[in-house]
Amino acid sequence: MNEGQMTDGKRRVGVVGAGQLARMMEQAAIPLDIELVLLAADAHDGAAQVVPEVIVGSPDDPAALRQLAERVDVLTFDHELVDPETLAALEADGHQVWPSSATMALAQNKRRQRAELGAAGFPIPAFANVESVADIVTFAETHGWPVVVKASRGGYDGRGVWIVRDADQAKAVWDDAQAHGTVLLVEEFLPLERELAVIVARNPSGETAVYPAIETVQRDGVCNELKIPLLGDEAHAAEAERIAREIATTIGAVGILAVEFFVSRGTLLVNELAPRPHNSGHWTIEGAQTSQFEQHLRAVLDLPLGATGLNGAAVATINVLGPQDGSDPRDRLADALRLPGAHVHFYGKGARPGRKLGHVTVVGDDLNEAFARAQDAASVLQGESR
Ligand SMILES: Nc1ncnc2c1ncn2[C@@H]1O[C@H](COP(=O)(O)OP(=O)(O)OP(=O)(O)O)[C@@H](O)[C@H]1O
Ligand SMILES: [Mg+2]
Repeated sequence: MNEGQMTDGKRRVGVVGAGQLARMMEQAAIPLDIELVLLAADAHDGAAQVVPEVIVGSPDDPAALRQLAERVDVLTFDHELVDPETLAALEADGHQVWPSSATMALAQNKRRQRAELGAAGFPIPAFANVESVADIVTFAETHGWPVVVKASRGGYDGRGVWIVRDADQAKAVWDDAQAHGTVLLVEEFLPLERELAVIVARNPSGETAVYPAIETVQRDGVCNELKIPLLGDEAHAAEAERIAREIATTIGAVGILAVEFFVSRGTLLVNELAPRPHNSGHWTIEGAQTSQFEQHLRAVLDLPLGATGLNGAAVATINVLGPQDGSDPRDRLADALRLPGAHVHFYGKGARPGRKLGHVTVVGDDLNEAFARAQDAASVLQGESR
């Protein structure tokens, strides 16, 4: 027990990063009287606006991470981009870091994810590491054009993913990556029938809890729409849930682990892992018996995990993106709240065209109806005619 716990019995969780995930973690922390302490890059970040205890500093600064670790019972994350070696040093000094430095290292390296998941027998797309432009061309000659070239580290929301159609485009992507010091891999371009995601939680005692597999719909590389339950593909849903649980156990994940899947040519393949609450789990706040944010806190504190069943027959979640005209969806809140059952979440971010500013969830009896209502609310907030 650290000093904090001895004085007032509160549990303290340090969160590296202060974006919307940390903000929604705070919402889950309040009823359990868990105190969050943030390491925020900027005092105005979404979570820094709502959490009283904030250290302003860089996630790249080992001293700031240590300062955070010393104030809390366990350190966790709102994003992946933290140096695993700094985290390993904190672990060696007896600090609890969940997910562990090893899980964080795996999460931020798509090459290693592919290699290790493949070696462990999980189904993955054909891929190769790229050390020269010739590696892209050779891979394409075997697997066919186009191919998908990815940054091994640092990509998110489709930034760092390039569809490459010929040798000229391969050279352009390669030259640009060289200029930025970006490490690349190449994989087959898959005809995607569907994309699924499974949120699984695991605590240090080894208990796991799996949420139902869901379908995610990406627009311009951003995961934009969630529909629950997954209809018409029960076999892949069950397989995805089984694989996600196995991956969490195999890699020793602690906290929430989001596993993204492709369904291509009738086959389920693992796309990537994210060891934290995830965009594809936002539906759980109102739609599941335990939200992914509460589940993450339970898991990293080694508390019993909560039930993962649905709160209704159907749940739909849709992102609210910044409108092209630069207007602010918060100005249209009243119109959205007139729509029955629309749960509006804003992330405390300034409006910029295309920026993810929030989401809307509707829980209902019928998926099409819930989806239509969530769509209505998102459209209203984005100032679109319905
Ligand atoms: N090999 C592939 N074949 C076809 N489409 C792909 C392939 N890899 C990625 N995509 C498409 O690009 C999207 C983003 O890819 P990926 O998940 O690897 O990148 P990311 O930027 O790390 O993801 P995120 O959007 O989850 O942050 C996928 O969800 C999928 O729609
Ligand atoms: Mg992804």
